[in-house]
Amino acid sequence: MAKKSSLRSKSIIVFFITVFLIMGALFASLGNLRDEVLRNEAQAVADQVVSFRSWVAGSGMVWVNKLTPEFQDYLAIHDTGDSTHFYGKNPALATRELSVIANKTSTRATFTVTSDRIRQKANTPDAFEKTAIAQFTADKSTPFVEAYQDDKYRYARALIVKEGCLKCHGDPKDAPAAVIQKYGDKNAFGYKIGDVRGIISVTLPTIGFMEALPTLANPISLGAILLAFLINFFFNTRFILSRLQKLTEDTKAIVSGKLDTPLDYTPPKESNDEVDHLYHSVDLLKRSMELVVKKIKRKD
Ligand code: HEC
Repeated sequence: MAKKSSLRSKSIIVFFITVFLIMGALFASLGNLRDEVLRNEAQAVADQVVSFRSWVAGSGMVWVNKLTPEFQDYLAIHDTGDSTHFYGKNPALATRELSVIANKTSTRATFTVTSDRIRQKANTPDAFEKTAIAQFTADKSTPFVEAYQDDKYRYARALIVKEGCLKCHGDPKDAPAAVIQKYGDKNAFGYKIGDVRGIISVTLPTIGFMEALPTLANPISLGAILLAFLINFFFNTRFILSRLQKLTEDTKAIVSGKLDTPLDYTPPKESNDEVDHLYHSVDLLKRSMELVVKKIKRKD
């Protein structure tokens, strides 16, 4: 049978198992924190989109007097009579153009506004977006839908039809002529208040294991683990192991006949320290052995 390992090695192993478990627990918390951080970031982006849309909606349309090559779409045209034209962009259109710009710059987040019934091909939903729309339609109280996809975090929030939307998404008869002319009278009409018209979809790069690692393996955490190890090691050595070692030596000396060897340490009468209890017991054993030896000597 293999020789039993020392208490010192055992306590070192126990220490590392403890550290390992605590690190595991920290990693699990870090995972939750990551979800929270990404969700908050996506929520902030969605909030911005909502604010932007309501700014455009508040003034009906935004009017620009120049169409850049990239953004040729408009819903209405206003001729000022002096050969200047103003082009009107409604909230959905302006939002799509904003998203094109945002998605091209190096911002972390990208977003789109999409639907299961699209007017605009560029707004075609992908698999995640289709599932999210289906989920919101099935249960309108769903606050958001999220998912991790490859190395991306996906987030979706529902766009619910309100009174103001009906003009362009209700009965085609009420719709501005420009909408009918551009998109026809079939696309994305017939909605009622409270219906899910579509979603704001936000995509963020996820935070991987390697990026999260420095959060845990930083000098302060590593220093704290080292300090914990040293404190453990010092405590075990100073208060348990070296005292047990001394007591073992003393006991061996007593057993080998040197009964007058004083124990190297006299524990206080009242103590909760287990090694003190052991010292007491050995001391008692020593005294009773002395008595026995005295009795034997008297008999001789
Ligand atoms: C002035 C007319 C108008 C109003 C009012 C309007 N929309 Fe739209 N909506 C459009 C047009 C036009 C498009 C297509 C825009 C494009 O080409 O990207 C669109 C597109 C959308 C889309 C993107 C999906 C698609 O069909 O391509 C969503 C989602 C949407 N609207 C939701 C809403 C909601 C919600 C409201 C009310 C808060 C609203 N709309 C009010 C005209 C309107």
